[in-house]
Amino acid sequence: MPDIRLSPGSRLPSVVAMEKIAFLGLGRMGLPMARRLADAGHPLTVWNRSPGRADGLTEAATPAEAVRGAAVVVTMLSGPEAVTEVAGRFAAELAPGTLWIDMSSIGPAATSGLRAGLPDGVALVDAPVMGSVGPAATGGLVVFAGGEDADLDRAQPVLERLGRVRRCGGPGSGAALKVVVIGAIVASVTVVGEVLAVAEELGVPQELAREVLAAGPLAGVVARAHSADSDFPVRLAAKDLALAGGGRVLSAAREVLLADPSIAEEDLSAVVGSLRQR
Ligand SMILES: NC(=O)c1ccc[n+]([C@@H]2O[C@H](COP(=O)([O-])OP(=O)(O)OC[C@H]3O[C@@H](n4cnc5c(N)ncnc54)[C@H](OP(=O)(O)O)[C@@H]3O)[C@@H](O)[C@H]2O)c1
Repeated sequence: MPDIRLSPGSRLPSVVAMEKIAFLGLGRMGLPMARRLADAGHPLTVWNRSPGRADGLTEAATPAEAVRGAAVVVTMLSGPEAVTEVAGRFAAELAPGTLWIDMSSIGPAATSGLRAGLPDGVALVDAPVMGSVGPAATGGLVVFAGGEDADLDRAQPVLERLGRVRRCGGPGSGAALKVVVIGAIVASVTVVGEVLAVAEELGVPQELAREVLAAGPLAGVVARAHSADSDFPVRLAAKDLALAGGGRVLSAAREVLLADPSIAEEDLSAVVGSLRQR
């Protein structure tokens, strides 16, 4: 039986169902997101591969234990291999009526693989996000949601707590849009890094090149390339480019990211300094 509370801030006496949630994956994004759901009043059980990350939240020993009795399961893991592996440890435990929301960036092919393995009566919504650790903590993410309409309706109150929800269409459509958008951003940041290295070679002062680039259509990309408060590891950016398939520009950007293993755990903006040193 869900816990029913008055929805905060509403003037009408509407109610929201505070469904019991299992949250799997307490990385740099998952932990602040799980905390927001707990702070909203959802009964919450968390699980992470490496134990001890729960920071006061109720922690289960296994994925199967975490999802038992949960109405909603949220996964926020590094990529397709991780989600597929963890799903193999909990999917059989999901009761009919459970809603699984995968918020990891895994692309539409892996998403449809998860859907093919769903137990009867279990629904899946793909809901990857844009925005980094700051927005994850404040509910400022942008969520690309794909799924059946009724499942998206049910996911809405959970997703709204985490950010602005953009409904993309049917199953897999959120996963697909995420690949498109992040591919453009990551490759563009890499291009900015490269042209700033070219500026150095040509004797164009860095500040001048950056200022003029930032005054044109690449303004947002230049800002992202010099962001001081994002924490999106180069390792995950390269993974996202791989999800886009074999496009020539995206593949070239991925090679650039992978060419300097020393920045794998640093934010994407580290590629700018790395390219200047090559
Ligand atoms: N960071 C960002 O700014 C950002 C922004 C938007 C979207 N995203 C996407 O959001 C997702 C999570 O990103 P993140 O930055 O939170 O990544 P992260 O800090 O690297 O965390 C990854 C999580 O996945 C778990 N994991 C990895 N492999 C696993 C496996 N084989 N089995 C079980 N658990 C596994 C990790 O567990 P351990 O703790 O045990 O390693 C950790 O909980 C990714 O898909 C990423 O592309 C990230």
